Parts: sequence; C-alpha cells; structure tokens
Amino acid sequence: MKIIYLALSGLLLATSATAGDTTPQKLIAGFAAQAGSTPSAARGKAFFTGKHTGGKPETPSCLTCHTSNLKGVGHTRAGKEIAPMAHSANPQRFTDSAKVAKWFRRNCKTVTGRECSAAQKADILAYLSSI
Ligand code: HEC
Repeated sequence: MKIIYLALSGLLLATSATAGDTTPQKLIAGFAAQAGSTPSAARGKAFFTGKHTGGKPETPSCLTCHTSNLKGVGHTRAGKEIAPMAHSANPQRFTDSAKVAKWFRRNCKTVTGRECSAAQKADILAYLSSI
C-alpha cells in the first residue's frame, strides 16, 4: 500500500501543475535534493533581503517589490498589489509548483540577471516559510 501511495504521489509531483498541488516543505525538499544542498533560512534571508547587481537597475532586491514587511502587502513597479510573501501570513504561498517555477524564473532574472539555482530556491523558500 505504502509503495503504491509513494509511486502515485511521485507521479502527481512529476505531472501536475494545478493550483494547490504541493507544499512549501515538499518544494524545499525537492530543490535541496536536486542541488544536493542543505536548505538554510539564513542564506535565503541574505539572498532575499540583499542587494544584487546584474539585473534591472531599478529592481536591485527582491524587497523592491515584496517590501521589507514580508507579512504585509507588496507592490509591483506599476503599483499593483502583491499579496504577502510570508507563508505564515499567506498560506496559499508556495503551494502551486507551476506558479513558484514561473515567478522564480522571472524574478531572479529581473533582480540578478540570471535564474536562481536549485540550492538558492531551497534557501529562499526555507526563509519565507520560517518567518
Ligand atoms: C518587479 C517586482 C518583483 C520583484 C523585484 C520580485 N518579485 Fe517575486 N513576485 C512578484 C509578483 C508580481 C509576483 C506574483 C504575484 C503574487 O504572487 O502575489 C511574485 C511572486 C513570487 C513568487 C511566487 C510565490 C508563490 O505564491 O508561489 C516567488 C517564489 C517570488 N516572487 C520570488 C521572488 C524572488 C526570489 C525575488 C528576488 C530575486 C523576487 N521575487 C523579486 C514581483 C516581484
């Protein structure tokens, strides 16, 4: 029974891209396994709150849009509201693998000029799930 269940959930993880298909813990474990790294909320915090170069000069940090109050509402450059990033303040965060993949790709490029590594993604999600 257990083996069937594991096989089934593996299949679901591999194929599904619908809303609410995952949890922050599963995503963190997946990225960490991919990277062979141990997730670190401290490293995630340093990356998420730090200043970067290489991306668009007007968005040097993840906080440019998500703001330093991660339990509060953020704003895009155009002024559109962004729901809180902290999982504790917004339980829907990091529960949709397609959404997480899309925005990591887009936002890491905007801020740093390149995609985040799997290890960085594990760290960032560990941080945003810990606050
Ligand atoms: C230009 C503004 C902007 C910047 C800068 C930005 N983000 Fe975002 N981010 C958004 C928007 C807009 C969304 C999607 C709207 C929402 O989820 O509320 C989003 C969503 C996300 C999500 C998806 C969350 C979920 O619900 O699954 C992740 C992950 C994310 N951002 C990570 C980052 C990281 C990491 C950085 C820094 C490298 C960053 N963002 C910088 C605007 C930004």
